[in-house]
Amino acid sequence: MTDTLTLRRPDDFHLHLRDGEMLKAVLGHSARQFARAIVMPNLRPPVTRVAEARAYRERILAALAPGQRFEPLMTAYLCDDTPPDELRRGFEEGVFAAAKLYPAGATTHSEFGVTSIARAGRVLEAMQALGMPLLLHGESTDPAVDVFDREAVFIDTTLRPLLQDFPALKVAMEHITTEEAVDFLSADGSGRLAATVTPQHLMFNRNAIFTGGIRPHHYCLPVLKRERHRLALRRFATSGSPKIFLGTDSAPHLRTLKEASCGCAGIFNAPVALQSYITVFDEEGALERFEAFASVHGARFYGLPLNGSTLTLRRARCDVPQDIALPGGGSLHPFLGGSTLPWVLED
Ligand code: DOR
Ligand code: ZN
Repeated sequence: MTDTLTLRRPDDFHLHLRDGEMLKAVLGHSARQFARAIVMPNLRPPVTRVAEARAYRERILAALAPGQRFEPLMTAYLCDDTPPDELRRGFEEGVFAAAKLYPAGATTHSEFGVTSIARAGRVLEAMQALGMPLLLHGESTDPAVDVFDREAVFIDTTLRPLLQDFPALKVAMEHITTEEAVDFLSADGSGRLAATVTPQHLMFNRNAIFTGGIRPHHYCLPVLKRERHRLALRRFATSGSPKIFLGTDSAPHLRTLKEASCGCAGIFNAPVALQSYITVFDEEGALERFEAFASVHGARFYGLPLNGSTLTLRRARCDVPQDIALPGGGSLHPFLGGSTLPWVLED
């Protein structure tokens, strides 16, 4: 039995770091594990311009502890009126690593997002020409569509035609949650389509939201799905396919804002991200494929060099705290808070 695993330092290809006090409280959890992260732009107001992304990157770097190394890879938040030249400049100047498309109304802070793909045509044309990845929150916003069907409907009605219209555009389906997404990815032979998957969608099905009462800390978007979807995600993520890689979607919200009559969507999994993913790979008998998922496939998709340094995980009891206090008051409840995991990070 493997009891320690040393791997190239991983990257997180989907992360919400927020800003201000929250940024300071959460950043260290990611920087401890990951060399780089694709940083989501859904601040309020969103990060839409090169200057805003530069300034946000500076605030992230300033929030690192002394001696800590971590490279934030910035993204642009696409709006109906995003100028293609702004994206081009940001990409060419090495500020924007990618652009994120939130269908307007799909999720937290998505109200400035794209109201229809048709409106994003010029921007997508430019991104295709540049080789700049498009990161998709792939859910239908049609209120008539059942919340559990939103990803599958998006794939059929939006993603399929988009890939046909832009045959060379690099696309990452963010945080996939369904067997339909796995089938769609598996069938694609173009080499320009990939996906990220979160620890929660690999570990839980939708029952977790309702076990013994309503469980707001298991609520994120896209929402957890049926067991058959979880099993399909686990098979695909641990298969060794280069089309799927690590992206936590760690999305902190104050405990009080989650435990509310209208609780925020988002799971703060950064403190136990690698410990959770490796537990899944271990359970699936796929430890030998963990490094590729965590540290290789994503970098290849983004055209980034592989990290030179390493990190070690050890089989030992990891007690996850119930609460992480913020310096200015309030607290966060981390993913799996109050339970234990069978792997720890070695410092
Ligand atoms: O659950 C989610 N939380 N899903 C998202 O797409 C956004 C995120 C957030 O920013 O809180
Ligand atoms: Zn996200």
